Amino acid sequence: MVSQVVAEEKPQPQQLLSKKAGCNSHGQDSSYFLGWQEYEKNPFDPVSNPSGIIQMGLAENQLSFDLLEEWLEKNPHALGLRREGGGSSVFRELALFQDYHGLPAFKIALARFMSEQRGYKVVFDPSNIVLTAGATSANEALMFCLADHGDAFLIPTPYYPGFDRDLKWRTGAEIVPVHCTSANGFRVTRAALDDAYRRAQKRRLRVKGVLITNPSNPLGTTSPRADLEMLVDFVAAKGIHLISDEIYAGTAFAEPGFVSALEVVAGRDGGGADVSDRVHVVYSLSKDLGLPGFRVGAIYSTNAAVVSAATKMSSFGLVSSQTQYLLAALLGDKDFTRSYVAENKRRIKERHDQLVDGLREIGIGCLPSNAGLFCWVDMSHLMRSRSFAGEMELWKKVVFEVGLNISPGSSCHCREAGWFRVCFANMSAKTLDVAMQRLRSFVDSTTGGDNAALRRAAVPVRSISCPLAIKWALRLTPSIADRKAER
Ligand SMILES: Cc1ncc(COP(=O)(O)O)c(C=O)c1O
Repeated sequence: MVSQVVAEEKPQPQQLLSKKAGCNSHGQDSSYFLGWQEYEKNPFDPVSNPSGIIQMGLAENQLSFDLLEEWLEKNPHALGLRREGGGSSVFRELALFQDYHGLPAFKIALARFMSEQRGYKVVFDPSNIVLTAGATSANEALMFCLADHGDAFLIPTPYYPGFDRDLKWRTGAEIVPVHCTSANGFRVTRAALDDAYRRAQKRRLRVKGVLITNPSNPLGTTSPRADLEMLVDFVAAKGIHLISDEIYAGTAFAEPGFVSALEVVAGRDGGGADVSDRVHVVYSLSKDLGLPGFRVGAIYSTNAAVVSAATKMSSFGLVSSQTQYLLAALLGDKDFTRSYVAENKRRIKERHDQLVDGLREIGIGCLPSNAGLFCWVDMSHLMRSRSFAGEMELWKKVVFEVGLNISPGSSCHCREAGWFRVCFANMSAKTLDVAMQRLRSFVDSTTGGDNAALRRAAVPVRSISCPLAIKWALRLTPSIADRKAER
């Protein structure tokens, strides 16, 4: 008996799992997540660990906590689970509340807040909102509702690395990348959409829709209205869906402002096919309010079947009644939300400018951006070889030698090597300064101090083919004196 047990092979922990749980669709091995792991082993702290890794791979908004805290101080009833004005307790009601349609007061307040974010050009109806545990859950639920195993969604690159996990892992849906390039500032084109559609067909995948992130993660840009119109025309022509992840809607801090896909749908003349019930918006309070820990997200759709199916799905990731109660009061305070949104955008812009100016001083250029909590940074001139191997080599140096966790473009499925997403809103201005100093030393040691010349030599020929790219390349190449004068 004993010898039989010894002879039996012990299963690997992985083999004890279902195939779904064990497969790599989660994307855990992506450098995006590996960078986080490295940061967690050695996190920077200005006092206790000043040589640790600075986390610049996390799109968190920590810039306006004081405004939220101030509101909480003034409104203790919301946290204390009491009715406004020192009224009776709602504890028992909330403890028992389990309606997956959500607290009506919260949905009304959220719908109004979402309308306000879009300057009331779109008015959200609370009955078309499905509450979810963050945008992660909203995206997955929509994918579950719209795509069968093996169906595909087209997504413009570069895209948020979490989509591989959120959209594919449990649903079995596929992502087909729509390749966008620096030649036109990574804007999505009809030709790129057609190309992706053809590639999907070649793989015998049924295309069920297009998913965009507007404002874009990782580009930090808002989609121009013309691009949204082109996208809506595309889904109308193909008879497929459009999911617009608008989680960064409230971060658009400069012109041209944010335009929602719903605004474009509402503005379509009656001539084309009606797509209103095939355009769905994803939203969350993780970025605009900086509350990713609260897990509050939403699907907005005027398609009754989608709302009904997604509401049933939301049982797997509801927002707690306590959180809904608190946020109903906070978002219901119109004066507060108006001033919060304006001040939050001002702070995001300030931090964005600090990063862009700091990078420019050391000869590193970014895609011009007007939204988001990050910049899309071109470090291709610092790579030893212009390849993804070169990008990984540089990334490792930046993480381990410079002590900055940034996200390589390849983890966002970017087709061009040398781009990195660099986050700026999850740290203090002082920490961002430390990050810039570290990067400066690294660049000086890599380029022998003549970084501007190196970059001039490195401007890729193909990026000089369109006006936007020319403007952008010129921004990257002034002499050090010019750069100082620009400030
Ligand atoms: C484009 C995009 N969608 C969804 C998410 C997930 O957000 P949440 O924390 O609300 O689940 C993120 C988070 O970074 C994101 O950038």
